[in-house]
Amino acid sequence: MVYHGLKGIACVETSISHIDGEKGKLIYRGYNAEQLALTSTFEEVAYLILHGTLPQEEHLRQFNEMLASYRALPESAERLIRSLPAQMDDMAVLRTVISSFGEKTYTFRPTMEEAVRLIAAAPSIIAYRKRLTDGREPVQPLSELGFVENYFYMLKGKRPTEAQKKALETYMILAMEHGMNASTFSARVTVSTESDLVSAVTSALGTMKGPLHGGAPSAVTEMLEDIREKENAESYLREKLEKGERLMGFGHRVYKTHDPRAKALRVKAEEIAGGDRDIDLALHVENTAIPLLEEYKPGRKLYTNVEFYAAAVMKAIDFDASLFTPTFSAARMVGWCAHVLEQSENNTIFRPSAKYIGEMAVPLTQ
Ligand code: ACO
Repeated sequence: MVYHGLKGIACVETSISHIDGEKGKLIYRGYNAEQLALTSTFEEVAYLILHGTLPQEEHLRQFNEMLASYRALPESAERLIRSLPAQMDDMAVLRTVISSFGEKTYTFRPTMEEAVRLIAAAPSIIAYRKRLTDGREPVQPLSELGFVENYFYMLKGKRPTEAQKKALETYMILAMEHGMNASTFSARVTVSTESDLVSAVTSALGTMKGPLHGGAPSAVTEMLEDIREKENAESYLREKLEKGERLMGFGHRVYKTHDPRAKALRVKAEEIAGGDRDIDLALHVENTAIPLLEEYKPGRKLYTNVEFYAAAVMKAIDFDASLFTPTFSAARMVGWCAHVLEQSENNTIFRPSAKYIGEMAVPLTQ
C-alpha cells in the first residue's frame, strides 16, 4: 500500500493543536483558537503553544522581556541581509538569514530560549529587508511595544492604530499553528535526525515557500482588485463560475464548513469596515459568493477560507503581497518551534519506505 502524500496518515502524537474539519474547530492546547484570537495577545498564545498552559502574570512578563531582548538583529545578520541579491525572494531571504543563526551552541536538544530567539528575530529580518527593498533605511525595534505592534512599527516606521494592531494580531494568532501541515512535518523530520532547531526551522521555511502551502492570499487580492466596486461583484463571480473557474479564497481540503480562522478574522475585519473600502468590498464579495457557490456547486460545502480574510485584512493595513507569506511564517515560527521541542522530547527518526516500481535485473551490456 502506498499512501501518496501521507494523506490522512497520523505519524505522531501531539498535544499542541487539533483540527476538526467537519465541525470547523481549531484547538490550541485545549483552547478554542478562534476565541483566543479575539481575546488574547500574540505573546499569551505563543506562550500557551510553547509551554502548554496559559501564562501567569509573572511568567508572561518574563516571556515578553525575553522576546523583546532578542528583537535587535545581530550585526552579522544585518550585514547578510544587505549583501543578498536585490532580486532574491523575501522568503528565500528569511530562510537564508535564519539559517545563519546556526552557531555551534544550537545542538540537539533544542531549548525554549533558542525557540524564543528565532521567534523574536523573524519579524525583524522581514522588516529590515522590506525597508531596504523599498529604498528606505531599516528601523530599529522598540522594546516597549508588543510583538505585533513592533513588527508593524519596524515595517512602516510608525505605530499602528488600535484597529490595525488588533487585525494583524488576530491574523498572526490564527496563523500560529495548524496541525501536521507540510512545513511542520518538515521541521519534525529534520529534528528527528537529532539535528538542531535552526536547521529544523530552515527546512520548514523552505517548505512554506511553495505556492501550495504559503502562497495563496495574493490570488485573493488580485480577485478583489479585479472586482473593484461592489456593483461588479455578482457579474464577475458568475462569469468565473460559468467558465468553470474557482473562486479564490473559498473551499478547503480539511474544513467542510466555515473555516474557524476565517470567522474570527471576519469579526476583526468588520471592526475596521465602514471606514475601509477594501474590507467593505470583501464582506460584500463573501455575501455574494456563498449563495452563488451553492447555486453552481450544490452540496460541495464551499465557504470562505482563511486566505480570503487574510488577504482583505492585509490589504486594509497596507501590507503588500510580498509580505503575505513572510508574515504567515513569522507567526507559524511559534508552531514550528513547539513541534520541534515536542518531537525532540520523545524522538523516533522518520524513515518511511518507498515502493520500488522500477526495472529489476537489467543486464549490464558492454
Ligand atoms: N470555487 C469554485 N468551485 C470550487 C472551489 C472554489 N473555490 N473549491 C472547490 N470547488 C468545487 C470543485 O470544482 C469541485 O467541483 P466538482 O465536484 O463539480 O468537480 C468540488 O468543489 C470539490 O473540489 P475539490 O478540489 O475536490 O475540493 P478540495 O477540498 O480538494 O479543494 C481547495 C480544496 C484546493 C482549497 C479548493 O477549494 C480551491 O481550489 N479553492 C480555491 C483556492 C484557495 O482559496 N486556496 C486557499 C486554500 S486555504 C489554505 O491553503 C490555507
